[in-house]
Amino acid sequence: MFANLTDRPVDQIIALIAAFRDDPRPDKIDLGVGVYKNAEGVTPIMRAVKTAEKQLWEAETTKAYTGMAGDPAYADALIALLLADAVPRGQVAAVATPGGTGAVRQAFELARMANPDLRVFVSSPTWPNHVTILKHLGIEMIPYRYFDEETRGVDFDGMMADLEAVRAGDVVLLHGCCHNPTGANLNMTEWQAVVAQLNATGATPMIDIAYQGFGDGLDADAAATRMVAASCPEVIICASCSKNFGIYRERTGLLMTVTHEPGLTKVAQSNLVYLNRQNYSFPPDHGARLVTMVLTDDALRAEWQAELEETRLSMLDLRTALAAELQSVSGSDRFGFIAQHRGMFSQLGTTPDKVERLRAEHGIYMVSDSRINVAGLNHRTVPILARAIVACGI
Ligand code: LMR
Repeated sequence: MFANLTDRPVDQIIALIAAFRDDPRPDKIDLGVGVYKNAEGVTPIMRAVKTAEKQLWEAETTKAYTGMAGDPAYADALIALLLADAVPRGQVAAVATPGGTGAVRQAFELARMANPDLRVFVSSPTWPNHVTILKHLGIEMIPYRYFDEETRGVDFDGMMADLEAVRAGDVVLLHGCCHNPTGANLNMTEWQAVVAQLNATGATPMIDIAYQGFGDGLDADAAATRMVAASCPEVIICASCSKNFGIYRERTGLLMTVTHEPGLTKVAQSNLVYLNRQNYSFPPDHGARLVTMVLTDDALRAEWQAELEETRLSMLDLRTALAAELQSVSGSDRFGFIAQHRGMFSQLGTTPDKVERLRAEHGIYMVSDSRINVAGLNHRTVPILARAIVACGI
């Protein structure tokens, strides 16, 4: 039977982890996978998370199952963090999922259960795993223009022109903040225009938000998601705690639906619970419990918010430094977009062969679409990267 299987290409982001690890050069620089690193190159356990973990070790008396939707307190805490008072809690159905990816996978499955002829519109480009999960599920995917290769900002006219093709029953996947891979984001006026277009056609927005707190702050990064939740009749939201709580390996996500029609929340909830049961039964609990503890304890929450803010500001600082360094080395302003982008990533905009030259000649690793993880830099490596970028003719 297994002889029928064929080799599958390794996910390009995941492949970079191994390639970097196996590179013996001591001065190599990892700007690949989206994992936050501090100035020492360490991905720390956040202080509040560590404290919560110690408290949990003392207090937890059982590892018996929670509920099929996860601990309800976790959903309450994360919904409050993300949606604040944008919609009443009773209009939100939610289940804990294994990471944001688990939420995305279940979201696509839910949408297809609701519409067997589902079409999902995705930004071009988007996180590569969006594309491969849709392919794996056999769901039709339609790219919409998003990134302007010239300005390195959003091609908003192109996006709106492409979204004219959406119709009722379609899902339009949007990044809540800190677009991955480009770093270019819609402003609020543009978000409102997108909402008007979706509401005019009856398409459903699906928001993937994995970097709340990494862009302009916890509330600013959630503002678009809150506006969409309040303004569209039905919304799907996938949230990840991997990055903003630094609990990557704990696999902590939440899948939500927002509905404004009475009675639909209950139906949505039962379908979400059904999907959890079919796919992996009970969702992981450890990370979710830590998040709940941090968000519901005033002292832990303050400590977490302070560290998250330090993290956010350090990435902004690196963006400013890299843009300035590139301006000085290249003698041009063409890299100014790096300081305008938000979140962990920026797409530099160059060809895969130049990305390969950066790796081969300079030991600098990034995704072949020229996405850099800004958090992989520090003030020592910023000038090294700037010189290498210019030396490779980017
Ligand atoms: C990334 O885009 O690098 C992260 O979201 C990690 C991943 O799973 O791809």
